[in-house]
This record gives sequence, structure tokens and C-alpha cells, in this order.
Amino acid sequence: MFLITGATGNVGRVLVDHLLEAGVPVRAVTRNPESSKLPANAEVVSGDPSSPESLSEALSAVSALFLNPAAVGGSTAKLLELARERGVKRVVMLSSDTVVDDAAEQSDSIAAWHKQIEETVAASGLEWTILRAGEFATNLLGLWAPQIRATGVVRAPYGQGTTAPIHERDIAATAVRALLTDDHLGETYSLTGPKSLTRIEMVEIIAQVLDRPVRFEELVPEQALQAILAQGTPKPIADSILALQAESVGRPAHVGTGVEAITGQPARPFAEWVADHAGAFA
Ligand SMILES: NC(=O)c1ccc[n+]([C@@H]2O[C@H](COP(=O)([O-])OP(=O)(O)OC[C@H]3O[C@@H](n4cnc5c(N)ncnc54)[C@H](OP(=O)(O)O)[C@@H]3O)[C@@H](O)[C@H]2O)c1
Repeated sequence: MFLITGATGNVGRVLVDHLLEAGVPVRAVTRNPESSKLPANAEVVSGDPSSPESLSEALSAVSALFLNPAAVGGSTAKLLELARERGVKRVVMLSSDTVVDDAAEQSDSIAAWHKQIEETVAASGLEWTILRAGEFATNLLGLWAPQIRATGVVRAPYGQGTTAPIHERDIAATAVRALLTDDHLGETYSLTGPKSLTRIEMVEIIAQVLDRPVRFEELVPEQALQAILAQGTPKPIADSILALQAESVGRPAHVGTGVEAITGQPARPFAEWVADHAGAFA
């Protein structure tokens, strides 16, 4: 049995589907089972991973768990201690590619938060694999898709800033391998899309795939900050996001090798992600 935290999220939903397709039993955790729209052949359990005791029963007969920091938050140590007591053998953690190894101090709050959770995972006594993802392409569903639908214009900062956006299917595919095989134990992987793109190039690809005009209009950082805060993002995280974008201007984004190393397939191009989500931009 595999227990998935963050099961209703961007990565979790696809991961649940992939595991079910692989024919393995899945226990999907959500705080709201009634509205979760999780597949009928998953065992949907009610629980809040940020209050680990709510998962005490759900952890029984589980061999491995997928840890999504969005769902577990600061409760990782407690959750993993409970998991070990309940006989869980393995944890696969979704982390962030902003984490820098061997740095005395992480340079921003997103990296520092993930690094702390990574250290807890590595010290948990469980078998572990850490998947450090770069920027999710799905972030655009909240930030850009409504603007494109309404106006055909993406108003965002740092048009020359770069990123290598990753398809959630690639994150899920790597997590499946890390959960099901012994090949990735004690390893940390960097997962990104296959190519560094500027935000202006991303808008051009969206226009090509949708086959309609979409243009980029540069926002000043203060306007961009207000837009990110309006999504419900906490201020320190919003500040980190903008600082990372500012730093990326004029230099290619890091392209990680983890997707291909784990799945044997190159990471999916951004155009494929847009095509898979074309309905969200229409
Ligand atoms: N976005 C990026 O670009 C990026 C890049 C690198 C790494 N990451 C990592 O990926 C994580 C996000 O993954 P995701 O997009 O798949 O997750 P998500 O969609 O943001 O959230 C996953 C699920 O977690 C549960 N959840 C959210 N907030 C919670 C809270 N405060 N307490 C308890 N449960 C909560 C919700 O499930 P229920 O409502 O069903 O309980 C939600 O559906 C980030 O936190 C970060 O660690 C993100």
C-alpha cells in the first residue's frame, strides 16, 4: 500500500493515477474526501498531514509514502516518526530545485524551508529519495491562464527571466519509480523541464500551440508582487519567487537530469504541457 499526501494537488492527482495504472494499491489523503474527486479505485482517506496523528490509522500496512511539503508543512518529523512506528519503510519527498547543496545558509526562504524538510527526511531512519523539482508549469494555470482567456495578454515581470518549467506528469513518473523500485534510495535528483526558456519565449510557445495571438507585457516588480499575493501566496514566498525571477534575467535556467535518469525518457517539452492544458487557456 502506498500513501500519498497532497493527493488532490497538482502532482498528487497525477501520481495517484500513475500508481493505479501500475496496478498498485493507493491510499490518497485529503482533508475533504467528499469533494476530492479522486478516482474510485483509490482508497480515499480523510486526514490532515499537517496533523500527523490524524493519519495514525491510515499509515497501517503502508510500505511507502509520498511526502508533499504543501500538505505536511512543519510536521514532517512527527509524521515520519509515526510512519516508522507504524511500519512504513520508505519516504519519497517532493522538494525544490532552489535548494543548494553545501551552502552554509540557503539564499532564500523557499530553499531554506525545503532544505530543513530534506534534512528531516534524511534523518528519519526510513529509506528515502528526494525529488527536487524546478518551477512547475502548472503555476501558469493560476497566474497566466485567466489573463490569456480574458485578454490574450500575459502581464508578468521579467520577460527575459528564464526557467525550465516541468510537466507534472514527469514529476509523477519519477515519484512512481522511486516508490516502486529500489534503484533510487538515498539519492537526490534535480527535476526540470528539458530546456531553458525566457518568459517571453514561453508566451510565444503558448500562442503557437493555441494557434492564436498571445503577447507578453512586462509588469514592474511591485505590480507583480500584488498579483502573486492576490493568489494567496505568503509574502516571504512571493518575495523569494520574484527575487529568483530577477536573478534569472540574462542567464540560462538550470536544466536538471533527474527525469531522464529515473524514467529513461527525456522530460516533456513545454509545448506538450500547453497542449495537454489547452482547455485552461481557451
Ligand atoms: N509550484 C512550484 O513551482 C514548485 C516547485 C518546486 C517544488 N514545489 C513543491 O511542491 C509543493 C506543491 O505541490 P502541489 O502543487 O502538488 O501541491 P498543492 O496542489 O499546492 O497542494 C497539495 C494538497 O495539499 C493539501 N494542502 C494544501 N495546503 C495544506 C495545508 N495548509 N494543510 C494541510 N494540507 C494542505 C491540499 O489537499 P486537501 O485540500 O485535499 O487536503 C492540496 O490539494 C510545494 O509546496 C513545494 O514543496 C513546487
